[in-house]
Amino acid sequence: MNIGLLGFGVVGRGVYDITAARDDMQVTKVICLEDITLPDAEVTRDFNKILTDDSIDTVVEAMGGLHPAYEFVRAAIEAGKNIVTSNKALVATFYDDLLPLAAEKGVAFRCTAAVGGGIGWLSELERVRRVQEISMVGGIMNGTCNYILDSMTRLGLDYGEALKQAQALGYAEANPSTDVDGIDTWHKLILSSNVAFGVSMEHESVPVCGISRISAEDIANFKANGLTCKLVSRGTQAEGKYTAYVQPTLFPQGALEAAVPTNFNLITLDGEYSGRQSLYGQGAGRYPTAYNVVEDCVSVLAGKSFYSPYGGKVSADNSVKLRYYVRGGDAWIDSVTAEKWGTASVTEPVAVNEIHAWLKNNPEAFIAAIAE
Ligand SMILES: NC(=O)c1ccc[n+]([C@@H]2O[C@H](COP(=O)([O-])OP(=O)(O)OC[C@H]3O[C@@H](n4cnc5c(N)ncnc54)[C@H](OP(=O)(O)O)[C@@H]3O)[C@@H](O)[C@H]2O)c1
Repeated sequence: MNIGLLGFGVVGRGVYDITAARDDMQVTKVICLEDITLPDAEVTRDFNKILTDDSIDTVVEAMGGLHPAYEFVRAAIEAGKNIVTSNKALVATFYDDLLPLAAEKGVAFRCTAAVGGGIGWLSELERVRRVQEISMVGGIMNGTCNYILDSMTRLGLDYGEALKQAQALGYAEANPSTDVDGIDTWHKLILSSNVAFGVSMEHESVPVCGISRISAEDIANFKANGLTCKLVSRGTQAEGKYTAYVQPTLFPQGALEAAVPTNFNLITLDGEYSGRQSLYGQGAGRYPTAYNVVEDCVSVLAGKSFYSPYGGKVSADNSVKLRYYVRGGDAWIDSVTAEKWGTASVTEPVAVNEIHAWLKNNPEAFIAAIAE
């Protein structure tokens, strides 16, 4: 396999290092904006050099962002090249365009590192789907948020301090919004639901609430009630009905999720025959993530393409009811409040779509679902 590598940052460099030690694949050209030289690959800023090189059969995209990643990947598919990418935003956003195109052109498309980094989550879904229906996917999919919540819970840091520490350790970006506002987890949930259920989830039907409004007061309330807060995604299917949402969720201290430390991920599926199974590991980092990119290249060599057939558009229903912790209520919250934890309310069961719609009009509030 001859690889054209787009991007030479955290992931791209890792892919280069791992493939350099292999006989079955080599990176022959690299797109990089910096002036570097590599012993056995040509470095260029010109994507056309990869596009028009017939000896390159596979493009590995590790640039991130939507543009020009989308234009480059699309052009590479059109040119008959296989795609391996770690870019969840790209795949979730352009799913309805890129996946059918790859199938039409007969090229492989894989993106295992896009969800779970070093955890082979999407490959596991592909394997599991061969024998059974999957009724639920979800879990802790963002190491930055888990690091912040864990530091607040175990070390007593406030949100700002925990975020600063995550940035100092390289877990959080200078602009952490994609992580802490839940967008990264949202992309990963949409992609996981698409693969697990064989559908294309309507993005607008999937509500998301992140952790940026959480306070030390909230953490104290959770501790006093034996609960631990995690940012969690959940997607389900049953009899043609779907749910999908991302929100802070409170788990009893004995739950598996409550025990996930620092920047680790814990992603779970529920299968028809297997029941619940969880994968646990590093959701990010140079070599864990690059490892799964290279796994995908090996899968392409073995003749594999995408994980599931491209399915039709579906919307999440989200009428399922859960109890919520709410800080910053109003008359409607008062009308559904079952008990008070300090100044915060704990509601009777309310529909997920209803409380997320309320949150849109009350952006200063913080909500967390109480896990069933
Ligand atoms: N890091 C992780 O642990 C991890 C885990 C799972 C998935 N991912 C995904 O993997 C992708 C890459 O992440 P990363 O952490 O490796 O990012 P990164 O360190 O910022 O690397 C991206 C590289 O691509 C380069 N680049 C951006 N636009 C370019 C362009 N138009 N032409 C040429 N080069 C360009 C960047 O150059 P400049 O710096 O000069 O802009 C940078 O060197 C993202 O989609 C991310 O979500 C990352």
